[in-house]
Amino acid sequence: MARRERIFACQACGAVYGRWQGKCDACGAWNTVAEENASRLAPVSGASSSTRGKGRAFQFEALHGATEEARRTRTGIAEFDRVTGGGFVRGSVLLIGGDPGIGKSTLLIQASAALSGAGARVVYISGEEATAQVRLRAERLGLAQSPVAVAAETNVEDIIATLSRGPAPQLVVIDSIQTMWTPLVESAPGTVTQVRASAQSLIRYAKTSGATVILVGHVTKDGAIAGPRVVEHMVDAVISFEGEGAHQFRILRASKNRFGPTDEIGVFEMTGTGLAEVGNPSAQFIAGRDQHAAGSAIFAGMEGTRPLLMEIQALVAPSALATPRRAVVGWDNNRLAMVLAVLDAHGGLRFGGYDIYLNVAGGLRIVEPAADLAAAAILASSLTGAVIANDIVICGEVALSGAVRPVGQMAARLKEATKLGFSRAVVPSIGVEGVPADIAVERVANIAELVSLIARGTPERPEPSVRSGR
Ligand code: TYD
Ligand code: MG
Repeated sequence: MARRERIFACQACGAVYGRWQGKCDACGAWNTVAEENASRLAPVSGASSSTRGKGRAFQFEALHGATEEARRTRTGIAEFDRVTGGGFVRGSVLLIGGDPGIGKSTLLIQASAALSGAGARVVYISGEEATAQVRLRAERLGLAQSPVAVAAETNVEDIIATLSRGPAPQLVVIDSIQTMWTPLVESAPGTVTQVRASAQSLIRYAKTSGATVILVGHVTKDGAIAGPRVVEHMVDAVISFEGEGAHQFRILRASKNRFGPTDEIGVFEMTGTGLAEVGNPSAQFIAGRDQHAAGSAIFAGMEGTRPLLMEIQALVAPSALATPRRAVVGWDNNRLAMVLAVLDAHGGLRFGGYDIYLNVAGGLRIVEPAADLAAAAILASSLTGAVIANDIVICGEVALSGAVRPVGQMAARLKEATKLGFSRAVVPSIGVEGVPADIAVERVANIAELVSLIARGTPERPEPSVRSGR
């Protein structure tokens, strides 16, 4: 009989220790290390020699050879399929995380209904809500007639035993992994050990049965998927569902995907009757802007393979504080500090005594450095009061030297801009190719040129726009 090993695991990050300690060395959290029963956990390295030699010998295979293309099941919700890389792969496990109330259950019940409507066998297991609540939501969404099999269960072994009885379903939704528990381990539901063991069982089920399993995961205040990070490593894809609570837009974004790209996003809108796909996100994100106010510009961004125009706004106002305020929503604080420093050092603009607020409209989050130039432009615009005309898009990366650096996929960005009626673009002086015929580009080599362009003003064109000969 193997001696039962006592191990202690951090309930926040999953780090394992040989003895108890008050603070986790790995993640710095206090009072999160708890004793766990190691004997049934995943193999621990350093197995004793008695267990060695009992393994089964296996055959190696060559790297080349015929492999079949991963079989995929499309949900029919195009924005969802785009993020997964063209549908769910057979036997794969996806983890979908997001703030409470963002719409995870709504999205998954809609996807379940769409799939089952197309003839697939879909099982929806709710560990958080009673079946009556799930039914109510489905009724509200007008999907109550879909042949989705619903159950309110939390015992993973029961779930797998039930699923194993009939033919394997194509899709199993587990809402949420934090509510699941398995009698195989002793810890309480919701602990790292339980979440990890439940996820392991469900992943094993997916691999052996060929069903796609979607695990819903809660998100902590700082944005990480709650419970062990290890679940993220175990699954095939990690998808987050994000959005500002007050905004109706919701963005689906993959941060890990073994079967597809990670830079595609899916855009949804929360309506009274569930999530609606947003087919033309650029038009939505720039709709309703104040076209004649300083401190606003349109950034020609890229999300994966899809160009996306976004409005970005800044307010620069005299500060009464000793340390002026810098508040950023939807962009990176550090990049703001960097762009401000460059504007100061190379553009001659002094922001010292001003509070600065920067916001990306529509609840979007920009991660591309290509937004630097647009941010610099609106900061200069808000400081000087010079309005950036409403037919201009801006795109470029700013270097610490003040140089404006080229960005990728300029042609796609500009094409999207022309589609939405923009007739001018402020772009880097190099690396801009494939400019569509109906857009006039203004090339800026460095931040000083941008500042003088903004100060000179960008007079608005009378409608319909007349193209300049530049
Ligand atoms: P839900 O899917 O329960 O969120 P999660 O599972 O991520 O916690 O959705 C919750 C919110 O969505 C809730 O606050 C109400 C709103 N909602 C709508 O606006 N319209 C709808 O049709 C539905 C079903 C929900
Ligand atoms: Mg839910």
